[in-house]
Amino acid sequence: AADLGALIAARVRDVPDYPQPGVVFKDITPLLADAGAFGQVVGAVVAQYGAGAVDKVAGIEARGFILGAPVADRAGAGFVPVRKAGKLPSQVIAASYDLEYGSATIEVHADAFTPGERVLIVDDVLATGGTARAAVELVRRAGATVVGVSVLLELAFLHGRERLDALGGVETRALL
Ligand code: PRP
Ligand code: HPA
Repeated sequence: AADLGALIAARVRDVPDYPQPGVVFKDITPLLADAGAFGQVVGAVVAQYGAGAVDKVAGIEARGFILGAPVADRAGAGFVPVRKAGKLPSQVIAASYDLEYGSATIEVHADAFTPGERVLIVDDVLATGGTARAAVELVRRAGATVVGVSVLLELAFLHGRERLDALGGVETRALL
């Protein structure tokens, strides 16, 4: 696990002042481009849950799609996209939240989950936690159970984990 942390740290690039002055953006594209590192990250997220413990992976647009889809495949789970407003074609439920840089609304198809399904939420970065918190709210409103939130990396100084803990019943796991 220490090795994986070091590998992730070596493959995530800090981009100062993106997308706006004062924000240091964590760019995961070097990690995604490294086949070995990408595969180890996917395997580590899958290993956080027992075999057969997850029915659906909910990946958050956009980088949560890239990580969440292979996690779903390897975990034997289905994949559900949690999208920015206006992108999903059928009936949706929506939640709005504040970001480190701006505000946004995310949506999921109203029929994406069957009641009682066990859902793992996946994203690349946990920053303020606003996005993940809104995703938890959506999954719960859709009648499913959140088994956890897994992210590649957590920006602890933004206290996202505390915002998720405040919801109750959510296990937040970060690889770094
Ligand atoms: C980033 C990141 C998370 C979210 C984390 O996505 O991928 O989804 O912000 O921030 P938070 O914890 O403060 O809510 P972004 O909104 O930049 O969207 P994108 O992946 O579509 O570029
Ligand atoms: N990187 C990627 N997504 C983010 C970041 C970041 O630094 N901060 C908030 N969302």
